[in-house]
Amino acid sequence: MPAELKMNIEKIDNQEDGQVFFTTSVLNWYLENKRDLPWRNTTDPYCIWLSEVMLQQTRVQQGLPYYLRFIRAFPTVHHLAAARLQQVLRLWQGLGYYTRARNLHACARQVVKHQGGAFPRQYEQLLRLPGIGPYTAAAIASIAYQQPVAVVDGNVYRVLARFFNIRVPINSTAGKKTFNRLANQLVDRRQPGEYNQAVMELGALVCTPANPLCHACPLQQHCAAFLQNQWNKLPVKTNKRHARIRYLYYLVFKANKKIYLRKRTGNDIWQGLYDFYAVETRRPHKPEKILTGRGIGEAAIQQISPRYTHHLTHQKIVARFIEITDLSKLPSEGNLRACSPAQAEKLPKPVLITRYLTDTGFL
Ligand code: ADE
Ligand code: SF4
Repeated sequence: MPAELKMNIEKIDNQEDGQVFFTTSVLNWYLENKRDLPWRNTTDPYCIWLSEVMLQQTRVQQGLPYYLRFIRAFPTVHHLAAARLQQVLRLWQGLGYYTRARNLHACARQVVKHQGGAFPRQYEQLLRLPGIGPYTAAAIASIAYQQPVAVVDGNVYRVLARFFNIRVPINSTAGKKTFNRLANQLVDRRQPGEYNQAVMELGALVCTPANPLCHACPLQQHCAAFLQNQWNKLPVKTNKRHARIRYLYYLVFKANKKIYLRKRTGNDIWQGLYDFYAVETRRPHKPEKILTGRGIGEAAIQQISPRYTHHLTHQKIVARFIEITDLSKLPSEGNLRACSPAQAEKLPKPVLITRYLTDTGFL
């Protein structure tokens, strides 16, 4: 565990009083001040799922009319599953991120086909459905089924970072772990759904990104950011635009339905994971140039992928994949190993590599 993360966890574990205060105050405030929204007067997982998927990309005020139109057109998950994708997309129009709409439709179909129209109750099972990530799974499990799992969205990051004065960047791996752990400690066991909505509502109405209404906030008395006048410094986000850029030119040897992978060793990213033989540079180059520099002529090139970018905490990877079928060019160094799709599937790989293998149909 990174030292930074360990420190944060210890700090948080020593704030038990603060945690009780936080949970109780936010809940009480919510019960008095919540907005009356259609999906708050139901425990129907379908309505909750639909509203939460929509609210991931729009504010409540903009999302509301879409929600109402959807519910009118598709009152149940069965109606949505039976609809044509075209109609779903048309009603979604204006919300953007059309993959979400496609996933919505695919998810409805799966729930109807495999679960008889009933959404699973468990967080882990919900996660397996198309388009349902940690946020939506936690929202459904807690709001519809009273399971004590924390929802962590932008509002939650902001409120927690400010109240507990947590300075680990919310977009870092350590940050995600810290906030997730804290959020799950804070969930009210008896009213997890109300609690989750309470924190989001406080973030939306009071602890807003700019000019939070601290004077009207139930947390003010013990809020670290308020007491130190630091709300504008929290939450901390690492600036990914300043991340170091690394250019990776992957030589993808592929022949006889096998692909050549090697295990990454050394003190660098992706230790122990499998990727291809790579040439790394500080600046972008023409992929062909990279190869001719290594005695591989253009004739050996089967295909060159478009640019793939992948963000890590302090670096950005820009990769091109150069497919080569001529095995006589196979580098002798690097422990390359021929793998069938089944073998490649089983090996642990960076997301970037899985993306490429899936895009090219190898997996
Ligand atoms: N943002 C997304 N879902 C929400 C909810 N259920 N309550 C308040 N804000 C939200
Ligand atoms: Fe946010 Fe201010 Fe409330 Fe602290 S007191 S949680 S900064 S609104």
